[in-house]
Amino acid sequence: MQRFRRLRKNETIRSMMRETRLHPADLIYPIFVIEGENIKNPVNSMPGVYQYSVDRLNEIMDKVKESGISGVLLFGIPACKDEMGTQAYAKDGITQRAVTYIKKNYPDIYCIVDVCLCEYTSHGHCGVVRDGQIINDETLPLLCRMSVSLAEAGADMIAPSDMMDGRVEAIRDALDLNGFEGIPIMAYSAKFVSAYYGPFRDAAHSAPGFGDRKSYQMDFANGQEAIREIASDIEEGADVVMVKPGLAYLDVLKEAALTFEMPLAVYNVSGEYSMVKAAAANGWIDERRIVTENLTAMKRAGAKIIITYHALDMAEWLEEER
Ligand code: PBG
Ligand code: ZN
Repeated sequence: MQRFRRLRKNETIRSMMRETRLHPADLIYPIFVIEGENIKNPVNSMPGVYQYSVDRLNEIMDKVKESGISGVLLFGIPACKDEMGTQAYAKDGITQRAVTYIKKNYPDIYCIVDVCLCEYTSHGHCGVVRDGQIINDETLPLLCRMSVSLAEAGADMIAPSDMMDGRVEAIRDALDLNGFEGIPIMAYSAKFVSAYYGPFRDAAHSAPGFGDRKSYQMDFANGQEAIREIASDIEEGADVVMVKPGLAYLDVLKEAALTFEMPLAVYNVSGEYSMVKAAAANGWIDERRIVTENLTAMKRAGAKIIITYHALDMAEWLEEER
């Protein structure tokens, strides 16, 4: 008989045998920045998450700094939207100003920017729309302009989440051409159509005005296709590849980890967060233990970077355990 229990006798031996350990450096915290002044708006469907105007970003950035996590992922909410999402690549756009503010005041916090048009377009789609279709190749130059503009504003890493084909190569070329060959790309490579993004679309005001995102995001029934998407982004020059959402896609994450020798990111998305917060608020689950279990599972499956709205809480819990 195998006596597995020999190595589970007490916390000392369990800790010694532990294969996976979360560290604050694994974590990235998403932040919503909104145009305007003196704003700290709660996001109703995401308890504990707020939209901040740039003049109040210090309130959350001080906590980020204190927590010891690696960095933030920025999402901008502009005051005006139009067909082509021009605020996404405006020199004084909301995300550009937020990046510049953060890099000036918190130079050691790694600043990743989400590159996508859906928060900036009047129709809420992630690309250029004509006759009800999302036009892939006409979207690429806009994503390139957005990426270069955010790099100029000081972004440390560019993270395209639009799921247009060929965007990683296009963005890589545009960055290089403009002297940003040192700025890495983290591609949302296997991004699935998901009901788990629901709360995010409230937070970022980015719900599509018509239809859905099924013509560009992946069908959640497909695992093999995810591997092909990731392989293609690596070929196009992605430095980090991502699987999104997290919990329901750990099989994809694990397979990617076994298939590619590449840094992998996972996005523990808004709906995953909200479900935990709602159940915890009802006293039905133990939030700290559930979050620790969920995030550890993502790291165990192969994620090097975990993007999560729980990042600040998790970092604090890890600190307490030390
Ligand atoms: C923008 C984007 C989305 C998310 C990250 N970037 C929403 C979407 O694709 O509709 C989702 C993040 C989350 O749910 O936390 N394309
Ligand atoms: Zn989008």
